[in-house]
Amino acid sequence: GSKFKVLGIETSCDDTGVAIVDSDRVLLGDAIHNQSQIHIENGGILPPVAGHLHRANMELVANQALAAAGLSMSDIDVVAATVKPGLSLSLEVGTKYGCHLSKMWKKPFIPIHHMEAHALMARMVDESVKFPFLVLLISGGHCLLALVESVDSFLLIGTTVDNSPGEVFDKLHRRLKLRNVPELSKLSGGHAIEIMAQRASNYLEFPLEIPATQSLSCDFSFSGMLTKCTRTIETEEQKYGTSADAVIESAPNLCAAVQMCIAKQLCRRVERAIIFLSRKGMMPPDKCSLVVSGGVAANKFISKALKMVCDTYDYHLSVPPPHLCNDNGVMIAWNGVERFRENLGVLQWDQLASVKVS
Ligand code: KG4
Ligand code: ZN
Repeated sequence: GSKFKVLGIETSCDDTGVAIVDSDRVLLGDAIHNQSQIHIENGGILPPVAGHLHRANMELVANQALAAAGLSMSDIDVVAATVKPGLSLSLEVGTKYGCHLSKMWKKPFIPIHHMEAHALMARMVDESVKFPFLVLLISGGHCLLALVESVDSFLLIGTTVDNSPGEVFDKLHRRLKLRNVPELSKLSGGHAIEIMAQRASNYLEFPLEIPATQSLSCDFSFSGMLTKCTRTIETEEQKYGTSADAVIESAPNLCAAVQMCIAKQLCRRVERAIIFLSRKGMMPPDKCSLVVSGGVAANKFISKALKMVCDTYDYHLSVPPPHLCNDNGVMIAWNGVERFRENLGVLQWDQLASVKVS
């Protein structure tokens, strides 16, 4: 087919992202506006606030992405936007703006599923990721394991019954007051815990059980571990009479124990899925890939652990660079490329009445 360029828009949660990607896998321009600082100050995401901030930044971010690419809307062939799943007040902003561009410039529009976009992102930067492949999506908002059979065919294998791993990292980070460690104060919860864990002398000081080891599924559970850690922190604080803003002395060992426990659970679930898929003949005998994406994929300890599982079963491990693992416009534009090539879900500019967010 001939070359084309897709402009992708992401507003499902707290990032306003826009990017332009072409059919040769080239990222032409990219811009992102992150709202997290304001949500931290509010103690969590308030959907009307998120929606308002997306509206305030939408056009600006789109123009920044076009400027970065040195392009104008007339050079774009297709518009794509996340329509689900996410906060509807957020999704609405990007979807409406995408439809507006589509109508104004008479370009086709492609509605995008946020999770599918995360899952397919790796294929833009790693040509060896072929269908079918296994994907592990781990972030603050997601925790799932799925088989990706094609651009629009996904089989969910496992999901979390309670928290996501990023949520556990962020909650413990807050409870441990790691923001008070000067050199870690600007890092995300998971990143700060990863660095604390490197300072551990003995991760076995706090033995944590890996949950649901006997359960015959690929589902995840983290809440038991989170409760146990919170109690441990309370006990440690009482034992040493730790002052209000001080970090407990045993924080490195606890961080290492948590990281190890999360890594082990992820590995066991992935291993179980690999064995299951191979027995069912759902994976080719060779050249299989495991894609790991989402904010937690940036954790080197966790990715090394998953690499060991992959080596055992002769799987190729593919982890996109962190800025492509987080929520961004690039993955939406790339999903638009994959869909446009195969004419999957492409709507003409005068057929957009059916587009709804959810
Ligand atoms: O994908 P993302 O940017 O946003 C969503 O949650 O959707 O992921 C952010 C999450 C946060 O929970 C953060 O603590 C975690 O990813 N994270 C990490 C690391 N860097 C970010 N977790 C573990 N290790 C890291 N190095
Ligand atoms: Zn996401």
